Amino acid sequence: MERVIVTGGAGFIGANYIHHLFEDPTFTGKVLNIDKLTYAGNLESLADIEKKFPDRYFFQRADICDAPAMAEIFAKFQPDTVVNFAAESHVDRSIDGPMEFINTNVLGTAVLLDTALRYWRGLDGAAKKAFRFHHVSTDEVFGSLGDEGMFTETTPYDPSSPYSASKAGSDHIVRAWHRTFGLPVLISNCSNNYGGYQFPEKLIPLMILNCLEYKPLPVYGKGLNVRDWLYVRDHCDAINCIVKNGTPGQTYNIGGHNEMKNIDIVTTICKLLDELEPSDRLESYTELITYVTDRPGHDLRYAIDASKIGKELGWLPRETFDSGIRKTVLWYLENRDWWRNIQSQKYRQQRLGLGS
Ligand SMILES: NC(=O)c1ccc[n+]([C@@H]2O[C@H](COP(=O)([O-])OP(=O)(O)OC[C@H]3O[C@@H](n4cnc5c(N)ncnc54)[C@H](O)[C@@H]3O)[C@@H](O)[C@H]2O)c1
Repeated sequence: MERVIVTGGAGFIGANYIHHLFEDPTFTGKVLNIDKLTYAGNLESLADIEKKFPDRYFFQRADICDAPAMAEIFAKFQPDTVVNFAAESHVDRSIDGPMEFINTNVLGTAVLLDTALRYWRGLDGAAKKAFRFHHVSTDEVFGSLGDEGMFTETTPYDPSSPYSASKAGSDHIVRAWHRTFGLPVLISNCSNNYGGYQFPEKLIPLMILNCLEYKPLPVYGKGLNVRDWLYVRDHCDAINCIVKNGTPGQTYNIGGHNEMKNIDIVTTICKLLDELEPSDRLESYTELITYVTDRPGHDLRYAIDASKIGKELGWLPRETFDSGIRKTVLWYLENRDWWRNIQSQKYRQQRLGLGS
C-alpha cells in the first residue's frame, strides 16, 4: 500500500479511513482521494490531513462514472491499491430518488473496475501481483432476518431497498471481474457503521443533534428493528487487514459483535447526553423520543457472522458498543462547527424517504 486510491474519501467512512491510514506510523505511502462531492462529501473532514501531509495526500474532484477521467487518474497516479467507498449510501434517499443509486453504485463501480482492469493488464511482474481492488459493501445485500440466524458470506443475496439492490448489483459485478478477467478484487460486507464525521441524516448523529436542539427524536415504527453496529475505526482497520492479507476473489463479513434494537440505541444516546451535556429544560433527553411512521420496506433485523475474518485473518473489533458510542457522542460535542456548517449549507435533520 504505497499508492492508494480512495474513492468517496470525503464521505463518512472514507474520511475516517484516510485519517486511519495517516495515523498508522508504518504507513509511508501516498493517497489520492477521488470524490464527486455530492451532498455527503465534505472536504472539511480532511482539512487537517491536507495541511499535515501536503506531499502524501491529494484530492481530485471526479465522478467514478466518468470513464475518461478515471483512466487518466489511474495512468497518472499509478495505484497499487484501490479502496472503493464512493456510493450513494442512504436508504431513505434511495426511496426518494433511486436512479442516482443505480448510476453511482452500479454503473460507477463497473466503470471503476473496467478502468482498474485495463490499468492492471498493463502492469507487469511484482506490481501486477501486488495490485488490489477492494470494494466496500454492506450486509443489507442479504435482506432481512427474523429473530434467529445470521448472515454469512454464503447467504444468498435478497436486497429490499433501491440502495441495497444497487450495492448487491455492484458486488456481483466486482466478483465477475475477478472470475472472468482475474482482476485481484476483495469484497467486504459490513454492518452499520458509527463514529465521527457521519452525515447527520443517519440514525446516531441525527439523534445526537436533535437532542442538542430539543427536536423530537423520530424513531421509525416501534423502534424494534435490529442492526449490528460497527465502530468506524474498527471497520477501517478490518479493511486494511483484508487488503494486506485477504485472498483475492474472497468476500469477508465485518461486524462489531453488537446487535442492538434502534430504540435501545436512541435511549443509550439520551442517557449519555444526560451525563455529558445535562439539560436544564428536561429531566432526560428520552422525553424527546417520538415514534413515527415506519420506513417503507424496512428490514426487521440484520445480524452478521464475522467469524471468517476472525479465523482466517485474525481480525476482531476493538471497541464495544459502550466504548464506541461514548467516543462518538463526545466527537459530536467537541466538533460542533463541523456539523453546524452542514446544517447551515445542506441539511437540517428533516425526515427523508417516505416514498410518496
Ligand atoms: N455507513 C454505513 O453504515 C455503511 C455500512 C455498510 C456499507 N457502507 C458502504 O460504505 C461506503 C461508504 O459509506 P459512507 O457511509 O461513508 O457514505 P457517505 O454517503 O458518507 O459518503 C459517500 C461518498 O461518496 C462520494 N460519491 C458519491 N457518488 C460519487 C461518484 N459518483 N463519484 C465519486 N464520488 C462519489 C460522496 O461525495 C461521498 O463523499 C459505501 O459504499 C456504503 O455503501 C456504509
